[in-house]
Amino acid sequence: VTTQVIRSIAELRKALASVRETMRTIGLVPTMGALHAGHAKLIETAQREADCVVTSIFVNPIQFNRNEDYDRYPRDLSNDVEFCTVRGVDLIFAPPADEMYPEPQRAFVDVEALSDHLCGEFRPGHFRGVATVVLKLLNIVQPSRAYFGEKDAQQLAVIRRMVKDLNIPVAIVEVPTVRETDGFALSSRNQQLNAEERRIAPALNQALRRAEKLISAGVRGAEEIKSSALAILQRYPEIRVEYLEIVDPESMQPVEAIAGPVRVMMAAWIGKTRLIDNVLCRQPVQAANS
Ligand code: PAF
Repeated sequence: VTTQVIRSIAELRKALASVRETMRTIGLVPTMGALHAGHAKLIETAQREADCVVTSIFVNPIQFNRNEDYDRYPRDLSNDVEFCTVRGVDLIFAPPADEMYPEPQRAFVDVEALSDHLCGEFRPGHFRGVATVVLKLLNIVQPSRAYFGEKDAQQLAVIRRMVKDLNIPVAIVEVPTVRETDGFALSSRNQQLNAEERRIAPALNQALRRAEKLISAGVRGAEEIKSSALAILQRYPEIRVEYLEIVDPESMQPVEAIAGPVRVMMAAWIGKTRLIDNVLCRQPVQAANS
């Protein structure tokens, strides 16, 4: 089976209409391309759960708050098509920017409160751009399920809340982060790192693991946990931490004392590259009850 690459919304709708006649479920894997093993896991999960898998590849201009970042974002469509073809993706939707935005976009989705902290604080308008394009893609494809990586935990929380508050008929599926053997989380942005930057990059995940260890040992004070995790990163002058926060996994609001599951979230710059990672942590049962 060859993977069909579709560039227009009208053609995709036509192709999907005939899919719907014979197949029950459509799974959507939205991506910005530069596909890696993390995306492969999204695709594999979708293939297990849906009859027809659509992967969208679109570097969405309205979620970038800096032109430089949009210009620098890696793009390699022919590689991505090959990547999807060998994995048996049914349809690739790779629209040009003026297909998705033929006119300036005037309608946007704002998911309040969840979008304000963390990445939202440092990338103004980012989650509005993400929520808007994801809603457009859901409306174009009308999948029964859509797949997103846990690595972008705040994005996932924003999308879940959009789906809930706007009654969108789709199931959002969270797929665990894929990591290199040294713990470094896969991201399309990783290819922007030089050898020296890549060498120190596992420190990001080490800091999160330190926080996780303290939480599972029963430490409750967020400040204490955060400063211990930050100490790992402070050993590297090349790493500039944007935020390291302990938040409620659903509301994304910072917590001061840990009393249930939390997510430790971080964003840091290594050289000119901004990276994010996070880990879900639970307190030991005894500590939570005491
Ligand atoms: O996670 C991404 O790659 C993007 O934010 C998404 C969900 C495809 C929207 O552009």
